[in-house]
Amino acid sequence: MEKKKVLVTGASRGIGRAIAFTLSKHYSLILHASKPESLASLMDELGDGHEVLCANFSDVEETKAFCSALKKLAGPSLYGVVNNAGIALDKPLMYQSMNDMDKMLNINVKAPLLIAKTALKLFIGNKEGVMINIGSCVGETGNGFQVVYAMTKAAMVTMSKSIAKEIALIDKSLNIRAITVSPGFIDTDMTKNLSEAVKEKYLEMIPSSYFGHPNEVANVVQFALSAEAKYINGTNIAVNGGIV
Ligand SMILES: NC(=O)c1ccc[n+]([C@@H]2O[C@H](COP(=O)([O-])OP(=O)(O)OC[C@H]3O[C@@H](n4cnc5c(N)ncnc54)[C@H](OP(=O)(O)O)[C@@H]3O)[C@@H](O)[C@H]2O)c1
Repeated sequence: MEKKKVLVTGASRGIGRAIAFTLSKHYSLILHASKPESLASLMDELGDGHEVLCANFSDVEETKAFCSALKKLAGPSLYGVVNNAGIALDKPLMYQSMNDMDKMLNINVKAPLLIAKTALKLFIGNKEGVMINIGSCVGETGNGFQVVYAMTKAAMVTMSKSIAKEIALIDKSLNIRAITVSPGFIDTDMTKNLSEAVKEKYLEMIPSSYFGHPNEVANVVQFALSAEAKYINGTNIAVNGGIV
């Protein structure tokens, strides 16, 4: 039987790469990064059966073109979307440039929103589909020097909840779900440049006493996508070692 298709954005590094490896055993993947070169080594390791579709999401026109191409490439076989690509440009709000704010809003919010708009039409045509939006613990708690980033991640929580409710209003028989998976501090490029002092401070807030491994997020995403998770919908799943 032909494998169902799942789009994973930001699959080249960190959490997205771990999600790609985990899902590749079960699905035919459409892998996204900002540029094809970012995905060369991953494609070598995964082998045949997966496709690449790239776009720089800081440019909204590129994101729109990406969505049109997604529609053609995946069409009726699209079963899942993992909106994972994201950036954090940390700075006190009073020093944050418009350019950096726009970048975070375009990559972290507008791209998942436009992808959701495209994917939902395909899901409704299929009468099934699962959308996973990657949030963050700071989307719930807020965080100093991450005002814009935290806002963009809170938006993922509301987007999943609202999509779940909207689908029920359209047709209760549709087997379509939207879920947020919100990691805590995970050992990736995004966190590697934190100073030792900042890392120590965060570690004190994490009952599990370590920064998570990308696989620990990927395993939850895999479960959330599966039919076994059919009754998980609209909610925000925290994968954060109990951070307060
Ligand atoms: N790491 C954490 O502690 C943590 C915690 C909570 C939530 N998260 C969330 O988890 C997700 C993945 O984080 P990560 O730590 O794995 O990040 P990462 O290692 O920095 O990887 C970021 C991914 O996003 C892609 N990306 C960056 N800029 C892009 C752009 N302009 N257009 C398109 N794609 C772009 C990158 O592609 P290229 O390789 O081509 O640049 C890469 O695949 C993000 O949404 C992040 O907010 C992370």
